[in-house]
Amino acid sequence: MTTILNKLHSVPQDVQTATDYLPYAQPRVSNAVWQYLEAGAGKGRTMQANTAAFDAIKLTSRPLTDVRGGNTKFEIFGQVYEHPILLAPIAYQRLFHTDGEQASAMAAIAQSGQMVVSSLASQTLEEIIEAANQPLWFQLYWQGDRPRTLRLLKRAITAGYSTVVFTVDAPVKQAVMALPAGISAVNLEPPSPNSLNMHQSKVFDGWMSHAPNWDDLAWLRDQTSLPLTIKGVMHIADAEKIIQLGCDGLVVSNHGGRVLDGVPSSLEVLPSFVERFSSQTKIIFDSGIQSGQDAYKTLALGADAVMIGRPYVWGLASAGALGVAHVIRLMRDELEMTMALTGTKVLSKIRLSQ
Ligand code: FNR
Repeated sequence: MTTILNKLHSVPQDVQTATDYLPYAQPRVSNAVWQYLEAGAGKGRTMQANTAAFDAIKLTSRPLTDVRGGNTKFEIFGQVYEHPILLAPIAYQRLFHTDGEQASAMAAIAQSGQMVVSSLASQTLEEIIEAANQPLWFQLYWQGDRPRTLRLLKRAITAGYSTVVFTVDAPVKQAVMALPAGISAVNLEPPSPNSLNMHQSKVFDGWMSHAPNWDDLAWLRDQTSLPLTIKGVMHIADAEKIIQLGCDGLVVSNHGGRVLDGVPSSLEVLPSFVERFSSQTKIIFDSGIQSGQDAYKTLALGADAVMIGRPYVWGLASAGALGVAHVIRLMRDELEMTMALTGTKVLSKIRLSQ
């Protein structure tokens, strides 16, 4: 059995960018947890495409531009943040550090940003928001039927969550690692029993009978006046319908390549969404961002904001809240540096060739 190293209590001096956390994070969790974090679906083609897509995009340097007073401020749903780097919903964060979701939430707020707390959080929605001491965003998974989904949504609203991110791209649960004792989705009701006979399909009659459909989304829209953003949209026609139903934002995402292997990278599809919908709705980009320069490229292609997933968990697994805060700060510094070198003072002016 390999030894699991103790968590760090300070930021390692040689970490210059988020990926530098990898050799610190991996030996601080079990092999099973590392595999759960890092794996992509299938052969990992989409996961690889997500990061590779950034390499093909070239930037233009514009020296001598006066960028004094520049900033990365970003406004969404009536709130202004100092930067557009949101923490994506990640399940069961106590797998990575005993401080769990509370650590990530505190780090996001300390860095004047925002976190999306997963339906599958391993700490209660109330204790996470108490640690953050600020409204957070809530990621909703469909709970099999409307009454159960509504109870979870109402609990989040009562706890003070300010925006709902409804994830629609992962209705079929792939094998999740066996969770260690003491770590579970503490905010969920026990699953309802679902017995299939031998002629029924595990997928169509089992999992998919608990998945949401378009009618459910229309219903959900009517259940809350909070901003409702739909995560996991990769098709223009779906986005069209989502906007028609009165939702407030789209998260262009393939779930970090963890669900349907073979779909394109999120970056490849982003421009078509921007072209069609940027004047009508907020477009948040997710999947594959590992640096502030990646964030810059995404914003240059027209996204309003970005979500990061695995990279902040590398910080969490290494050094808890300190590590998460450091990852966010590094990415923001890299974004600012890229803006400065391309002669851009504000996010709205970011373009690929200035
Ligand atoms: C996720 N993701 C995810 N998404 C979601 O809506 N609810 C969830 O509970 C989870 N849980 C989860 C666990 C783990 C370990 C990972 C890696 C991812 C997907 C996540 O929000 C995001 O879409 C991807 O992580 C983005 O890709 P990158 O940034 O990891 O490349």
